[in-house]
Amino acid sequence: VPNVQELAGTCNGPDEQIPERYIRPEASSEEVIIDDHGNMAIPIIDLEKLLSPRSSEEECVKLRSACQYWGFFQVINHGVPDEVIANLRNDLVEFFRQPLDAKKEYSQLPNSLEGYGQGFVVSDDQKLDWADMLYLQVQPSDSRDLRFWPTYPASFRHSIDAYSSELEKTALCLLQFMAKAVDVEPKSLLSIFEGQARGMRMNYYPPCWQADKVLGLSPHTDPAGLTLLLQVNDVQGLHIKRDGKWFSVNALNGALIVNIGDTLEIVSNGKFRSVEHRAVIHPSKERISAALFQYPCQDLLINPLPEFVKDGQVHYRTISYQDLLTEYFTTELDGRNRLDKLRL
Ligand code: SIN
Ligand code: FE2
Repeated sequence: VPNVQELAGTCNGPDEQIPERYIRPEASSEEVIIDDHGNMAIPIIDLEKLLSPRSSEEECVKLRSACQYWGFFQVINHGVPDEVIANLRNDLVEFFRQPLDAKKEYSQLPNSLEGYGQGFVVSDDQKLDWADMLYLQVQPSDSRDLRFWPTYPASFRHSIDAYSSELEKTALCLLQFMAKAVDVEPKSLLSIFEGQARGMRMNYYPPCWQADKVLGLSPHTDPAGLTLLLQVNDVQGLHIKRDGKWFSVNALNGALIVNIGDTLEIVSNGKFRSVEHRAVIHPSKERISAALFQYPCQDLLINPLPEFVKDGQVHYRTISYQDLLTEYFTTELDGRNRLDKLRL
């Protein structure tokens, strides 16, 4: 399929047609509720408050409702050094700014998820997303395939390494508080995720003069445990679904947007929600984001943990993590459908 950055460069005005495969009638037909930091906004969780004995309990209550009702929250005071975030941001902007040929050196290979290219193309007749991406397995460090790791900008590899190591601490810390927030032993969640793989998907959404006709990323839920998303430049575009409506997310500068993935919804027996989301396109500005996925252990049989089944009602059938991933990568993105099929 075409490189979207290149395509966007050739059809960037009213005289040019956007190829049919990118036209998404649903992009403009569904109502969107705009987040103006009012009461329609996803919750903001202050990690410093969670960590401080004086305010922890109160913040935990917010965290619990964020996980149960929104499946999404923004984390501020997350402790990731500003410099680590700034370096990643600069390097990502620089990387995507390069000519196509330079980026193509890191192209995805057949049957490999890693590298530079386009995501989730599984059939010849499916609709396509208006985005390019670079996907890397980032941790543990011995799982890295450096063929796909750009050497330009010169600091890029280091930036990804530093950022992904920092975010491991953040992810594990949040998981512990999430367990605590619902009166579950933190160890139970930690044992599934601690020391396990992490992948990073860096998204490049070119502008589109008919932005309301295309989608940057089709509606989906994330299969992993927890996703930590950084909006790299100051262009907004994330929408999440709640009560059948789309809500725009107004990402705070430097905050991490955290969401619960399918694995965590299932192990929590539905207590935490894996919420459908999508990315939309700006008419004149590019948008860049970076999603870090915290995966569970590879041979996990995902089913509700006993700690979450206090009333004896199991709400999901068991699926191996490998089967969940295979399905995710071989079928079209389809909102929450895949997950709903596992509900009992
Ligand atoms: C994602 O769902 O992985 C990315 C969403 C975004 O770019 O905001
Ligand atoms: Fe996602």
